Amino acid sequence: MNFELTEEQKMIRDSARDFAHRELLTDVLERDANSIYPAKHIRRLAELGFLGMNVSPEWGGGGMDNISYAIAIEEIAKCDASVAVILAVHNSLACYGIEHFGTKEQKEKYLRPLATGEKIGAFLLSEPEAGSDASSQRTTAIDKGDHYLINGVKNWITSADKGSTYLVVAQTNPGIKTKGINAFIVERNSPGITLGPHEDKMGMRSSDTHSVMFTDVVVPKENRIGEDGFGFKFAMKLLEGGRTGIAAQALGIAEGAYERALKYSKERKSFGIEIINHQAIAFKLADMITRIEAAKNLVYKAAWLKDNCQPYGTASSMAKLYAADTAMWVTTEAVQIHGGYGYVKEYHVERLMREAKLTQIYEGTAEIQRIVIARAVCKE
Ligand code: CAA
Repeated sequence: MNFELTEEQKMIRDSARDFAHRELLTDVLERDANSIYPAKHIRRLAELGFLGMNVSPEWGGGGMDNISYAIAIEEIAKCDASVAVILAVHNSLACYGIEHFGTKEQKEKYLRPLATGEKIGAFLLSEPEAGSDASSQRTTAIDKGDHYLINGVKNWITSADKGSTYLVVAQTNPGIKTKGINAFIVERNSPGITLGPHEDKMGMRSSDTHSVMFTDVVVPKENRIGEDGFGFKFAMKLLEGGRTGIAAQALGIAEGAYERALKYSKERKSFGIEIINHQAIAFKLADMITRIEAAKNLVYKAAWLKDNCQPYGTASSMAKLYAADTAMWVTTEAVQIHGGYGYVKEYHVERLMREAKLTQIYEGTAEIQRIVIARAVCKE
């Protein structure tokens, strides 16, 4: 078993790390405080090749592997998890979905500008009454011959405003449940699309999250993805890879908090010595790095399985479940190690703790990951 990263993976790690420390850290607190969208940083990431990084060069992408993708998300999340989620939704949901299930025409028209970062992608699955229960779609896409007519509401949509290319999941034939669901590529500026207000979130405050309302939105037939009725499986397939991205994000958040707690422990003195010399603190650090290491192995393994064309859905859910819980636990301990300083903004660990919480919720709660894993176990 080879745990060594390739030279290319190391290069991508170093480039993402350098960008995150030099360009994201400087103003992350301001973006977090005021919910400012990281527009210039997303443009820089496009220049550096991180948007569409897994897409084949044939379509203008970077042709990088999934381990490199996980590492990039991890490094960016150490400094700014909001940027990491924009990147994750764009790459592992929008780009992946069109590249692997779209037609040649859809790829030419929609994937190419996503792969270069000229446009940003969003994935519209969740609804007010279809969150964990994704099959209960109320948004309808009625077949009108040469087009579909979409009506309904989606919520918690990352990049709803700044994204230009939506992948929308909707019910075409309610009588046949999941088999009646379709997925469509919908342009953000289509007539009939309106947005709810920017969500004032606890964490990941600078990513762009809104509800999206569809009123008689006309979508050409050729924008449907796959065969009629493929939409639910399409969404599940996207989430398999998407969950590895969120797991990598959680891993980065945990590492960011751990690195800060370690540094603080070496500088802060109490009872005449640096607090790292108190076993109470040293043991916390030992537990934090042990869980981080376990999470890293799960995340990289899920990415490796995808790179090697092996089933990766269960591994991805395991990685997300464990990495998200690790992020929550490690960030809470990091705040504890910082004491009162941990509870104020300038030390960053309270932000990381708020960010960690969302990794236990989106792209499937911890409970959903357990359902996916338990179903796989029961089938064995
Ligand atoms: N790949 C392919 N097909 C799959 C699949 C997969 N991974 N998972 C399920 N399917 C198929 C099943 O085989 C079944 O097909 P058949 O009818 O032909 O047998 C069909 O889909 C229905 O499957 P289930 O009966 O298992 O469906 P279910 O209703 O019980 O749901 C679930 C399963 C796992 C709970 C699913 O609803 C789920 O994942 N829910 C969570 C949704 C979620 O993660 N939402 C996150 C929103 S995206 C987001 O957060 C992005 C962001 O902005 C950050």
